[in-house]
Amino acid sequence: MRRRGRGGGWAGSERWRRASGRGCRRSMTLGGDLHLPRVYSSNSFHLWLCLNFFFFSFLYFNPSHTLVVIYTAPASVQSHLAPEAEQQTHTPHIPPPHPTHLSSHAQGADESVKKAILEALDEARQSHPNIKLPHQHERKMQERMGRITTAEEELHSEGQERRKVTVRVPATSANLGPGFDTIGMALDMWSEITVERADKFEIIAEGEGADDVPRDETNLVVTGMKAAFAAAKKPMPTLKYHCINRIPYARGLGSSSAAIVAGLIAGLVLAGHQLPCWGSEELLQLAASIEGHPDNVAPAIYGGIQLGLHTGERWTSERVNTPPGIQLVLFIPDFIGKTSDARGVLSETVSRKDAVYNIGRVAWLVNALSTSNMDNLHIGVEDALHQPQRGKAVYKHLYPLIEAANAAGANGCFLSGAGPTVMAITSGASGDIFAQRLSERVDWTVAEAMVRTAEAVGVKGQVYITSPAEHGAQVVSAEPAFSSKVVRFKGDV
Ligand code: HSE
Repeated sequence: MRRRGRGGGWAGSERWRRASGRGCRRSMTLGGDLHLPRVYSSNSFHLWLCLNFFFFSFLYFNPSHTLVVIYTAPASVQSHLAPEAEQQTHTPHIPPPHPTHLSSHAQGADESVKKAILEALDEARQSHPNIKLPHQHERKMQERMGRITTAEEELHSEGQERRKVTVRVPATSANLGPGFDTIGMALDMWSEITVERADKFEIIAEGEGADDVPRDETNLVVTGMKAAFAAAKKPMPTLKYHCINRIPYARGLGSSSAAIVAGLIAGLVLAGHQLPCWGSEELLQLAASIEGHPDNVAPAIYGGIQLGLHTGERWTSERVNTPPGIQLVLFIPDFIGKTSDARGVLSETVSRKDAVYNIGRVAWLVNALSTSNMDNLHIGVEDALHQPQRGKAVYKHLYPLIEAANAAGANGCFLSGAGPTVMAITSGASGDIFAQRLSERVDWTVAEAMVRTAEAVGVKGQVYITSPAEHGAQVVSAEPAFSSKVVRFKGDV
């Protein structure tokens, strides 16, 4: 190995001796018989190793010098590693911390040592400004933070109003069994609403209930839209709405909540307004205060099975486990059920016996879902608070369908929302229905049993087999787009 002698390069210079004097003695007191100048001048790599050893020893005895070591040791060898290191380094140049910044952290350091180190740093920095060594954590972190901020700004554009937006929102089944006004599930059945700025107000509706939904400002999508602009404290613009309704209208599948949630989200995007979520769930507050209960709007927003309530101060909702392999068999009657009519048959008060009946079953239901114990679901979906009353007064098909579905192998069956849809839960699904033998699952058997029974009681309708949706409403597209490319965080994180 060729040695350049003690006079070679910066390591042998007078400035180095001044800079290293005190630290050198400390290193040697650790037991190292180090002839620092000679070793350091052997080649750049040894110089780098020894400098680190020296500075870490220094650090060991001088914890208050931490930042001096982190910054100075690597930078101090820049001039010696320049050619090789430069080839390996392709990151853009970010100026190293200014010496005044450094010195503010170097409290307690010997002033002459500090000054010499900073002078050496300056010299090295000027010769090879682009070099970064592997242990320059602080500087690399600053660089990454710079890039992350850029990427976030690209993704989150609070305040940027948009021309057009399309939102998808799922159907929901409220009142899951005994969870009256409280527990709801998002279903894999989606409506899509596109809203754009226009010169003239217009609502185009197609699909389910296209002839029944209002085409004026009383449409619930418009209600949600107005609430969003009010939350953003911006004037409501003139808009054109295009609603592709795939959620049967007024059948107990959350079409009203879907319209409200879609309008709210589309409005927030158009207004360029983002709501606080953690600890306040502002979107849920807006939606539930329009709808009046959270059992449809919470799963429409968050997806999955949601347990929602009002704390006395605000609405809140928690996700309950969705057992794997669940299928949902919906019998959707052809007739419309108005929630107001279905609520009208309920008494204002409940007996202690019925309250106890439902308390036990709600606990049983949540436990069965949480543990994916499908055998226990049967008891967990029973109810005394609304089904008996509604079954007797407005939905004669309800109990015959529940009995038929259970007899055909359903894990549980109940009224969906305020009706008239009846929903059975079955299990055993695995992957796509087209790739699994029918004999391993009971959804078709249950569906056939429900259809036969409905015919027997004289109720016309359709069967729809679907599954829970694990996520809720989402923005499908916007103009201008939120991001036209994949946003990557460059760097060696
Ligand atoms: N829980 C409501 C009801 C319907 O049964 O009247 C959906 O919010």
